[in-house]
Amino acid sequence: MSRRWVPFVCLTGLLCAANPPETELSNGEIRLKVYLPDSNAGFYRGTRFDWSGMIGSLVYKGHEFYGPWFQRVDPAVRDFSSEGAEIVASPCTAAVGPAEEFVTDSTQPLGYQEAKPGGTFVKIGVGVLKKLDDSAYNRFRLYEIADGGKWKVGTSADSMEFTQELTDPSSGYGYFYQKTLRLTKGKPQMQILHSLRNNGRKPIDSNVYNHNFLRIDGEAPGPDYTITVPFQIKSDRPPTKELAEIRGNRIVYLKAVTNQDRVATPIQGFGNQPADYDVRVENRKAGVGVRITSDRPLASESLWSIRAVLSVEPFIHIAVAPGQEFTWTMTYDYYAISAQARELPDAPGKAAFEKNCVTCHDAARALDARRTREDWERVVDDMVARGATGTDKELEAITAYLARYFGKEK
Ligand code: HEC
Repeated sequence: MSRRWVPFVCLTGLLCAANPPETELSNGEIRLKVYLPDSNAGFYRGTRFDWSGMIGSLVYKGHEFYGPWFQRVDPAVRDFSSEGAEIVASPCTAAVGPAEEFVTDSTQPLGYQEAKPGGTFVKIGVGVLKKLDDSAYNRFRLYEIADGGKWKVGTSADSMEFTQELTDPSSGYGYFYQKTLRLTKGKPQMQILHSLRNNGRKPIDSNVYNHNFLRIDGEAPGPDYTITVPFQIKSDRPPTKELAEIRGNRIVYLKAVTNQDRVATPIQGFGNQPADYDVRVENRKAGVGVRITSDRPLASESLWSIRAVLSVEPFIHIAVAPGQEFTWTMTYDYYAISAQARELPDAPGKAAFEKNCVTCHDAARALDARRTREDWERVVDDMVARGATGTDKELEAITAYLARYFGKEK
């Protein structure tokens, strides 16, 4: 029994001809559109990303955070391609929002290497897949689904629960996977709770990462965006110099990402505590951002961005012995950036402020109050004592800038 991929066309990223089944969630603060796993009409039927909890839209204070970043889906394309004004995605890559993929350390699905051609392997959140031939696993290739497992979906006004149960006697893998999207009452916050119970004979040793396909108000990655983590970023493959730069614990874009440009880099330098799984992506023009945290430590992290989408991809490691269960939670906080932090007047001192003050914390923290010149001097001295750097000239320019634009009479 073979399944065929039926291509569909998304018109300017809004209307999908196939009308995929979806559900809306809201807690009054954020509004979500979530696609349902469905092997006939689902929005996503590729064999790369987890089918559950795929978010087609999230609106907070009138700003859209997600949505399709490609205009068409074409099985002839590998990964994606930029064709004139259009971006065309392969069925496996055509995911949206916070999409998750399970891969082992060697970027293989469970049991792929051991399987013989015609045999089966397991992609969590997708199903039992058929190995086509001797070639290495290719995440962009559409594999035949031998068994999609048993999906169940439960919905309330502000939460959704997906479960998938699957056993593959021939590879020895089996699991009960549960994912819950939950909007926190009274807060612009979404949690994604996961649990994976190993029901097979073999231990499950895998990574899972979230691709976080983000496009705030559809805006291309560029100087309005900043990415902030709580550690000093190291990278053995820094982003292209003309396009983006690592500054301490932040990544900033120097110009808009256009055409075929790609800004990508590993984000290294994190420790082994869950507190380092903490990334904020802000768009200054829209005046909003999202902060993503987790109760598990990072296994790795990277940035990938093209003109239509910006993805910070945190990975965690999962190890579950047969009969055991592993849980992990991600928390997404959506927030507005304070007007002061958004509208830094262009004047002498601004560059020095951005270079020396917006590293350990964001500008909103530094601009929490208006202060007299004396108080700003005291703050700057205090920050230098805490580790802020800058030449005497820069520090004086910062003090003057703050006193002038964020000053107060005695
Ligand atoms: C080496 C890290 C670091 C740098 C660089 C830095 N700060 Fe801070 N800043 C801190 C810490 C730590 C706090 C306290 C945070 C807290 O209380 O949670 C803070 C707090 C603040 C506050 C809040 C008021 C206060 O005193 O707690 C202001 C205002 C501030 N910083 C301004 C600045 C300015 C202006 C610069 C640039 C000269 C700067 N910061 C650079 C670490 C830094």
